[in-house]
Amino acid sequence: MIGFFDRLARPLLRALEPENAHALTINALKFAFLRPPADDPRLAARLFGLNFKNPIGIAPGFDKNAEVPDALLRLGFGFVEVGTVTPRPQGGNPRPRVFRLETDEGVINRLGFNSAGASVVLARLAARAQAGGIVGVNIGANRDSSDRTADYIQLIEKLAPVASFITVNLSSPNTPGLRDLQHGLMLDNLLARVVATRNRVVPQAGHTPVLLKIAPDLSLIDLDDVVGIARARHIDGIIVSNTTISRPAALRDRATAAQPGGLSGRPLFALATRMLAETYVRVEGAFPLIGVGGIDSGEAALAKIRAGADLVQLYSGLIFRGLGLLAEIKNALLRELEHENADRLSELVGTDAAAVTAEKWPE
Ligand SMILES: Cc1cc2nc3c(=O)[nH]c(=O)nc-3n(C[C@H](O)[C@H](O)[C@H](O)COP(=O)(O)O)c2cc1C
Repeated sequence: MIGFFDRLARPLLRALEPENAHALTINALKFAFLRPPADDPRLAARLFGLNFKNPIGIAPGFDKNAEVPDALLRLGFGFVEVGTVTPRPQGGNPRPRVFRLETDEGVINRLGFNSAGASVVLARLAARAQAGGIVGVNIGANRDSSDRTADYIQLIEKLAPVASFITVNLSSPNTPGLRDLQHGLMLDNLLARVVATRNRVVPQAGHTPVLLKIAPDLSLIDLDDVVGIARARHIDGIIVSNTTISRPAALRDRATAAQPGGLSGRPLFALATRMLAETYVRVEGAFPLIGVGGIDSGEAALAKIRAGADLVQLYSGLIFRGLGLLAEIKNALLRELEHENADRLSELVGTDAAAVTAEKWPE
């Protein structure tokens, strides 16, 4: 099924406008007959109190409205993060708002949190609640909200009962002012309220791990603050990173690169991996990290783990490499375990972090 899809459907999808191709893919997944592959137990990990069958997740933005989480789990992802979900439905920015940089294997998007809203996502996740598997929910504020912190609080109250974990997304570049919430007192106040809310809903929702997803464009001084606050407020983990507003010098498709929005895919890899390593050395093992940004091979996934990621996520790499990428990464991780004579991936986590932080800053 996956080979069929990659050989026949993907060339067609690549010829379509990116958002139409995406809508078609979601619809195909709704009807696909998939049998989950059995994962090698050496890929399993227990983190945040959750049992992951393998460490590879699908990043948010792919299934924003929780239409196909079970199909994604059956494809072999170890976890799915749906969203970003906003409290009220909103349309996002005008189209076109997703652009492929074909030669660079990158994507620029300025979707702007197009979301069916929390009630729709709640109903879908409640309907599959017994199906098992790890399905996290990424939450964000409505663009026109007068109290963005209140939006996050409301979303946790509403969605924690159906979420394996919640990700507080403060790092989308496409909602004006959102990323300001990553700074100082604003972040401290927000995370204090987020954690208090999560604790308050434990009787209805059980313990829901709360993660923070950060931008790769933070300065290292800001990162010091973010990690310090995250540790002081006892959040459960950090996801590094969202898309970048920077444009690496090596980009070849300069015309598309001029589009405003967040850049993902291969051109993001170096910066996101550097920020991951920088986060890892600051976190000092206080909580796990999820590495995301530009993973398009087994080698790239392994580099994220060695830079400090307990888990990884991908999105753009699937567009350019196809669904076969997932099996390729699993095989590469198992080969590396054998090569290193290691029993678990956790033995490899962060082994290169210090070395990565000593490299020249990625351009
Ligand atoms: C089309 C598109 C939509 C995205 N939407 C979201 C989103 O709603 N919430 C979010 O936290 N990240 C979103 N992202 C960012 C991804 O989750 C991920 O952090 C980023 O793309 C880097 O990973 P990648 O290089 O593997 O794509 C989106 C990315 C793309 C390409």
